Amino acid sequence: MLEPLARIGRDPATGGYVRDAWSEVDMELREWFAGEAARRGLDLREDRNGNLWAWWGDPAGRPGVVTGSHLDSVRQGGAYDGPLGVVSAFAAIDLLKNRGVTPGRPLGVVCFTDEEGARFGVPCMGSRLLTGAVQPDRARALTDDDGDTLADVMTRAGRKPYGIGRDDETLATVGTFVELHVEQGRGLVDQGRPVGVASTIWPHGRWRFDFRGRADHAGTTRLADRDDPMLPFARMVLAARASAERRGVVATVGKVRLSPGNANAVPGRVSAWLDARGADERDVRDLVAELAEGLDVQEESWTPVVCFDAELRDRLARVAGGDTPAPILPTGAGHDAGIMAAAGVPAGMLFVRNPTGVSHSPDEHAEQADCESGVVALADVLEDLCR
Ligand code: GLV
Ligand code: MN
Ligand code: MN
Repeated sequence: MLEPLARIGRDPATGGYVRDAWSEVDMELREWFAGEAARRGLDLREDRNGNLWAWWGDPAGRPGVVTGSHLDSVRQGGAYDGPLGVVSAFAAIDLLKNRGVTPGRPLGVVCFTDEEGARFGVPCMGSRLLTGAVQPDRARALTDDDGDTLADVMTRAGRKPYGIGRDDETLATVGTFVELHVEQGRGLVDQGRPVGVASTIWPHGRWRFDFRGRADHAGTTRLADRDDPMLPFARMVLAARASAERRGVVATVGKVRLSPGNANAVPGRVSAWLDARGADERDVRDLVAELAEGLDVQEESWTPVVCFDAELRDRLARVAGGDTPAPILPTGAGHDAGIMAAAGVPAGMLFVRNPTGVSHSPDEHAEQADCESGVVALADVLEDLCR
């Protein structure tokens, strides 16, 4: 199902994907999306924040049902996180057309821009800008590893960074949003079901810790004379793990930048990113507060708990489940559906079974038959919601 997309942004050495927002690869992914929309006669729009919308029917003055996800990836990510939701959206439209369905409401497919935040650090940038959950000034000034700002790279891609921000006109077109996503855990494997429905998204955030020391020679500087920022950094990593275990949450340091980065020098500076999540916001906040004490810490993003609309959640479970309602599962992963829900849009999610639960890795997988069950479930849900 994902075959035509599988070539774009794939690192042949690892089999992982690198699909940074506003990169050349992103432009190819956008062209692919535009081609799929055109093949189906859908009306393509790009909003002021770079999100792509393909409409079957005109949502002007009549909010529609929207499905879709994102095409960007974490660095060296898998093939399914994001693309499965976009490909399934187009496949579900094909299925509805084969069934002879004419939706009673406009039906849209969305590709949100920069869901992972791999390049600029803030996840769900497209949906956050759309809903006003991030300030445009802050977004424009974010920098990537080369020091280029979001404003720079959008300008280079022919977009208008001074037009970004809350977009009520586009938001008004979305009556309901349903995102299909590969499951990023083993909840469905454990229950022996191919498709599930999301209940909640754990509160989660990212924090940058900066440790400053003094760069110096690795051979000639006595240990006692060093000001080595690696030591407090290492203590922070170990403390994060211990605190997460104690509180029953998860904490991850998955990105570190060393400056200047010489094997034969004490580093002058270490920047490290902490990702912390848990079922209970208090526990996550307490963990970060404990770690941050006396350190230089910046909160780069924070997403409170998301409880998806209960009526929609139950409706999705009923319609997507066939004879027995689909399982309802919480998740520790962030999604654009969560940002839309937080902005008051009735939103829900379908999950497709992941046999290993592995995600954000080239090993992420979903069986073809389960992906097909996901498309059928999505088509059933869209048909139901568009009545
Ligand atoms: C997105 O996939 C996230 O949960 O970080
Ligand atoms: Mn992801
Ligand atoms: Mn995703």
